[in-house]
Amino acid sequence: MSQIVLSGIRATSRLQLGNFLGAVINFVKFQQPGNTCMYFIADLHSLTTMESPEEIRGNLTEIVKDYIAAGLDPEQSIIYAQSSIPEISELCLYLSMIQQVGELERIPTFKEKIKKNPDNVNLGLLTYPVLMAADILGPKATLVPVGEDQVPNVELARSLARKFNNRFGETFILPEMMTEMIRVPGLDGKKMSKSDADNAIELSMTIPVIRERYLKFGVTDIERKLRSDPGDPYKRCQSVYPVHELVTVGEIEIRAIANACLKAEIGCVECKHQLVDNIAKVLEPFQAARVEIVDKNDFVREVLHEGGKKARALIIETVKEVREKIGIVIY
Ligand code: ADP
Ligand code: TRP
Repeated sequence: MSQIVLSGIRATSRLQLGNFLGAVINFVKFQQPGNTCMYFIADLHSLTTMESPEEIRGNLTEIVKDYIAAGLDPEQSIIYAQSSIPEISELCLYLSMIQQVGELERIPTFKEKIKKNPDNVNLGLLTYPVLMAADILGPKATLVPVGEDQVPNVELARSLARKFNNRFGETFILPEMMTEMIRVPGLDGKKMSKSDADNAIELSMTIPVIRERYLKFGVTDIERKLRSDPGDPYKRCQSVYPVHELVTVGEIEIRAIANACLKAEIGCVECKHQLVDNIAKVLEPFQAARVEIVDKNDFVREVLHEGGKKARALIIETVKEVREKIGIVIY
């Protein structure tokens, strides 16, 4: 079945391994003939934490380079900046009229964000999922590849689509998610995140730096005190075995690592070395391609310009339909 595949990444900082394994690898996987793929940089969403203007602008173009180095082809995928399409913000406003505030306040990511930064609980933070729903529903996306943390936000987009359709007639498509979504732990075992420099493995880090970070900071099974103690890879290892499950190729190889840990045949240091060797296999081709486009800023601007035009043409059609249904006339 042909799909309209859509996803975005905030322009908050350079990409990390969680973005790559949880999101970008899947963007590339769905880039197939027959699918319309739309991948953007959510620069408006980045404003909820008000990064510096230089950073927003700089991160945006760097993430486009990451997309291309990872295998996205601007001839096959529409690559664009969210802010290039003002109709997304317009649609967000319309959707906000059928969205109850209480439901937004209960979303886990909102609760986490206000806990982290209680002095800046801005309205944009609360309406963040509504803007995300506009991103998704605007081009009538059928599939939204994201990491596990984004499930409540995509659920909210589905619920908004349902509410709008019930009230105004069939308009939006209910977007699906992938059957398996992942959560990549950072070095401390919490979700790896761009905003947490201490727990992240950035895609631009060299393999020796990645190795050093895992060896120094990677939290394993804290109850395994001695090398001769058996470890528990499944429940207690925080940051190493769970990543093996994601990057190490072959079910037999992965099980072998888990069993060796369970029987104390390998220690955590050796397990970390093996992990970094396997991360290298995933990252090295990306890093080599990334070097090739590091200076191609004109090309990136052109990609964004062309992608913005194509995405806007698709989204405008939906926004026209919505205006008509809710009674807004542009004179
Ligand atoms: P971050 O959380 O690093 O700031 P974003 O919120 O912009 O990154 O996320 C962009 C995409 O990457 C989303 O689809 C998100 O689910 C995915 N993602 C981010 N971190 C992880 C992670 N640790 N594990 C799996 N997916 C992740
Ligand atoms: N909220 C997403 C994140 O933080 C980024 C995002 C914005 C997104 N709009 C989207 C993802 C639409 C998928 C679809 O990761």
